[in-house]
Amino acid sequence: MSENLQREKWGSKIGFVLAAAGSAIGLGNIWKFPYVAGQNGGAAFFIIYIFCVILIGLPVIIAEIILGRTAQKNPVGAFKKLSDSKFWPWVGAMGVFAGFIILSFYSVVAGWSVGYVYESATGVFYNFNSAQSAAEHFNHLTKNVTWGIGMLAIFILMTMFFVYAGVQKGIEKGSKIMMPLLFILLIIVMIRGITLEGSDEGLAFIFHPDWSKVTPKTFLEALGQAFFSLSLGMGAMLTYGSYMSRNDNVPKSSLEIVVLDTLVAVIAGVAIFTAVFATGQNAAQGPGLIFHTLPIVFTKMPGGYFVGIIFFILLTIAALTSAISLLEVVTAYFVDEKNWSRHKAVLVFGSLAFLVGIPSVLSFNIIENYKIFGMNFFDVANYLSSNIMLPLGGLLIAIFVGNVWGIDKVLQELKQGSDKLFTNYSWIVSLWVVLIKYVSPILILFVLLQSIGVF
Ligand code: TRP
Repeated sequence: MSENLQREKWGSKIGFVLAAAGSAIGLGNIWKFPYVAGQNGGAAFFIIYIFCVILIGLPVIIAEIILGRTAQKNPVGAFKKLSDSKFWPWVGAMGVFAGFIILSFYSVVAGWSVGYVYESATGVFYNFNSAQSAAEHFNHLTKNVTWGIGMLAIFILMTMFFVYAGVQKGIEKGSKIMMPLLFILLIIVMIRGITLEGSDEGLAFIFHPDWSKVTPKTFLEALGQAFFSLSLGMGAMLTYGSYMSRNDNVPKSSLEIVVLDTLVAVIAGVAIFTAVFATGQNAAQGPGLIFHTLPIVFTKMPGGYFVGIIFFILLTIAALTSAISLLEVVTAYFVDEKNWSRHKAVLVFGSLAFLVGIPSVLSFNIIENYKIFGMNFFDVANYLSSNIMLPLGGLLIAIFVGNVWGIDKVLQELKQGSDKLFTNYSWIVSLWVVLIKYVSPILILFVLLQSIGVF
């Protein structure tokens, strides 16, 4: 009992929603979603994405949060508390491990974003005359080991700062300032995009569904993206849920998080593609869109100097609030299970994430040719965590909540704080049960099988 009295808690509901939305909204929304949608039929991809979010994303995020809220523990502790078997805590342990690995390489890309705040402020983008010269500048920077490691260090230190300060005083307070700022900055960039001459082409690109580009693979792509974007499958939402109190409304908060995450992806898409089309750049750039194409876009558009700075600040904030949740999962595990102090856990695992991040930095220079199955270290870390461990974790979480924990117990917990939903919209509750028991596990299994190359 005494351990629960000491456990930290969110100070407010909005604090929780903003922190969890901060975890969800990240590089996945601003960097990945626009280019993946761009390659997969624009609005057609988006419509499929929405279905995936409603049918899988929302049910699984509710499952993760209710697990955490019930157990009031980190992922490993939560499974220990709610099941008798030795197997389930290992699922939590895989989540903690996956979170640590994601933190290490995610911070490398986030570090580039920090570096680009500086680059844009120096006006160096104005030396570029083509997308190619912008790309060359980027390659030149990522080949520089000192730059890569330096930016990684700065970003991880910023992440450690918030987690070190605690759930309420660090994560919640930081999210309450950074998330509204992120929304404002993003809206500024979007308004600049749609007011550019020729922006309608970009809008058509995103909002005109091109069904010819949709294949069965598109569905798996959309589902995987929904999963990654909502930070599911490794216990981040579970851990944030563990700082909730028992009378908070889980379905409502989950819906708010999902809506915010989806909105930011769409607004980022609008902001980026209107500007890319208006300045006559190539929209089908793929992963290079942000660091190769956007600098030249900023150079070519009126006010682009400021828009460029604003854009990379908002990208950094988005990545930062995600990285904070990744470090918090590892921290919560060592605090709950190993009785470490929060400060010790943050110092040790922040430093370790930095060290493990170094080979990811070197994957773009010194060790770029060391390949395992055709992938460098960075790609391997990304593939194993995002494509294997997250779907596997999500699959097992859905199975646990839907079929192992006992659905009566689950519903009893879920009802706490959401009475109205249970009395007025009981069909939604029944639908959720079907989704979490059968639909989510089966569809996630397909994503996993595709990831490991079964089809
Ligand atoms: N959702 C984050 C993004 O869109 C990335 C991410 C995936 C993540 N899994 C996570 C963040 C777990 C925190 C925790 O960029």
